[in-house]
Amino acid sequence: MTDRKATLTFKDKQHNSYSASFPIYSGTLGYDVIDVSSLGKEGIYTIDAGFHATAACKSSITYIDGGKGTLLYRGYPIDQLVEKADFTDIGYLLLHGELPNKTQKSDFLGLILDHMNLHEQMSCFFSGFRRDAHPMAIMVGVVGAMSAFYHDSLDIKNPDHRNLCAIRLIAKMPTIAAMSHKYSIGEPFMHPRHDMGYAENFLHMMFGTPYDESAPDPVLVRAMDRIFTLHADHEQNASTTTVRAAGSTGANPFACISAGIGALWGPAHGGANEACLRMLMEIGDEKNIPEFIARAKDKNDPFRLMGFGHRVYKNYDPRATVMRRTCHEVLDAVGRHDDPLIKLAMSLEKIALEDDYFIEKKLYPNVDFYSGITLNAMGIPTSMFTVIFALARTTGWISQWTEMVQDPNAHLVRPRQLYIGKDKRDVPPAEEW
Ligand code: SDX
Repeated sequence: MTDRKATLTFKDKQHNSYSASFPIYSGTLGYDVIDVSSLGKEGIYTIDAGFHATAACKSSITYIDGGKGTLLYRGYPIDQLVEKADFTDIGYLLLHGELPNKTQKSDFLGLILDHMNLHEQMSCFFSGFRRDAHPMAIMVGVVGAMSAFYHDSLDIKNPDHRNLCAIRLIAKMPTIAAMSHKYSIGEPFMHPRHDMGYAENFLHMMFGTPYDESAPDPVLVRAMDRIFTLHADHEQNASTTTVRAAGSTGANPFACISAGIGALWGPAHGGANEACLRMLMEIGDEKNIPEFIARAKDKNDPFRLMGFGHRVYKNYDPRATVMRRTCHEVLDAVGRHDDPLIKLAMSLEKIALEDDYFIEKKLYPNVDFYSGITLNAMGIPTSMFTVIFALARTTGWISQWTEMVQDPNAHLVRPRQLYIGKDKRDVPPAEEW
């Protein structure tokens, strides 16, 4: 409850004055909010296209301080988590609210490994796609189709079903992702192994073959695990909002996650890592950087510097800092410390951060700026970058979905609008159309 109020005074079209008061709520951290849910009774709505200043829900999972450039998962700073925890710990933390003890972690990972395989019939889905299909298209399709196989866990009011769906989604995303890659290169699908961890299994299924099951490089496994952690959750971003909106209708979690994958695909969101690497390859040489910086600043040019800027961060994205460090570790591990792409990226970053346009608009590198170079150095095809983002973000999406489904005050997501179309009019005789 609260005794703090905001009063809105407004005039109607006849210039009659009205005023109404609305409660102000504070969270643990961050901005206060004005609850305008009762505003409709006053015959007026708010509009906030893109939700720049609108909270869509209450949540306890992730907090971002855009001004300071900090990111907390259940209160723990991301830079501490990447050093002290692995992605299995993060999955448990996001889902259950606390870091797991040894027994909880062992049981959680055991459950995930038990569910990592797909129903054998699901592998038939892949042959319906063209070999050159974008793997994100395959992910949208196959993840959505999981609801055609797992009828035993679709009652979203049943906590056991919800937990089983969460495990199945977290467990099967690496398998589906790796299968979409293997299908595109015509190699046989690889099965997960109980003697490997989560990130190790993903790299094994991506790069292993029936005639060479050698374990993935531990440095690359650690890097992959860290990349999963960095991408796990991020408040109410566009794809999480999509998952919550789909979930608010009572749709099954597989359909909701499939909707989130679709939303993540766009270059303004999760597709930026793929777009960023393609941009760096298009820039090609440091001498071309000024031309691209100029294009990014030109209002008449739709080009934007991929991997730069963020709706919330108006400081350096803390994930980009970790990603840049990880990038150097991977490049050293694969013997590409002089990779021209990393040199180009660092020059581009330096030039942009010294440019008044980027300084004034508080545009800094985000998580996608260095992730593409890192994944490229790991031998992962560019088209798989956003798939890896979706794989990692599934843990955050299903945690947010679970939080919403368990919230007794959750509402069907149904925004209103400002109608600017034609006034009511009668249909004229057909000869006048
Ligand atoms: C992710 O929301 C999340 O949390 C997302 C994410 C997550 O983990 O879920 O963090 C993942 O999506 C990271 C962002 C990845 N996208 C990109 O790197 C694409 C390039 N970035 C831009 O498209 C842009 O910065 C956005 C979309 C990320 C944010 O855009 P906003 O918040 O809508 O800001 P805006 O478009 O209103 O930009 C403000 C100003 C504008 O200029 P003016 O109209 O004020 O003159 O900054 C300019 C923009 O033109 N601007 C850029 C720019 N980003 C913003 N100009 C050039 N290059 C850019 N990258």
